[in-house]
Amino acid sequence: MMCCGQLRLQNNIVLLNLESLVKYLYPDSQQFVLQIFDSIDSTNSFLVNFLKNKQTSDADPIYVVAAELQTKGRGRNGHVWCSEFGEGLTFSLSWRFKEYSSSQLSGLSLIVGLAIIRVLRCFSIEGVSLKWPNDVLVNGFKIAGVLIELQSGIMRSCQTVIGIGINFNLSKGTKSSIDCGVTDLFEITGKLFDRNLILSILLIEIKKVISDFEMFGFSHFKKEWISYHAYEGKRVSLRISNNQIVSGIVNGINDNGAICLSTDLGRKIFNVGEISLRDINR
Ligand code: BTN
Repeated sequence: MMCCGQLRLQNNIVLLNLESLVKYLYPDSQQFVLQIFDSIDSTNSFLVNFLKNKQTSDADPIYVVAAELQTKGRGRNGHVWCSEFGEGLTFSLSWRFKEYSSSQLSGLSLIVGLAIIRVLRCFSIEGVSLKWPNDVLVNGFKIAGVLIELQSGIMRSCQTVIGIGINFNLSKGTKSSIDCGVTDLFEITGKLFDRNLILSILLIEIKKVISDFEMFGFSHFKKEWISYHAYEGKRVSLRISNNQIVSGIVNGINDNGAICLSTDLGRKIFNVGEISLRDINR
């Protein structure tokens, strides 16, 4: 269906389109090279391959790839990212760090989660929180996730691909195929948001947080990040490998974005792991 020059699905969802994106990104649109696919295996895989086959330089724009449907959407730790045509916002963008250290980049995934939180709050979404390292929750249910892939380059440069998935209007079928508690923007607000608008605002916010991150480091965001951490002060289990689980009370994060747990053996710091609540009443 065509309406006001925009293509809409029958349930009134405006499809992703370059015209709207460029309009909403104005006057920043020239900093981004945008590509939209109806269907693709994974926007992250596409962009990783694209950048592998390309001579990148510090003068490059930010490449953005968005898709209505991913046939092989990927999540962290080998999980699958499920979202059918038009049900979510699934996109990836490139960012090239001229100078980087691996500890610096561990904070990157956390600040991208924070950028999503800030944008959701702009749209008056209440009850937003973060689950370390970068799940975004609303009322305790997952609404968005971040997958970052790195390619070290010459000198100390590093090319990153930042993939983001946000649930907008998941069908019952999609929800039932996801093995953790999920929610979407329609369930929370009853509104069908224009994904073009949210994508544009997100791109501008992500550009801002990464620029601040390059200048000031993760410590600049630490207080704000902890204020949104759903598990701060809670007793959790942290799965750090297939057969290793540590239990403790979440006690902040450090200046690199690693999580700190008060355990029976003292305060310990972890760079990787998946957390889950141990006992909600403690
Ligand atoms: C997670 O929470 O496990 C991370 C999910 C990341 C999903 C996004 S959707 C766009 C991009 N392309 C992918 O294949 N994955 C990321």
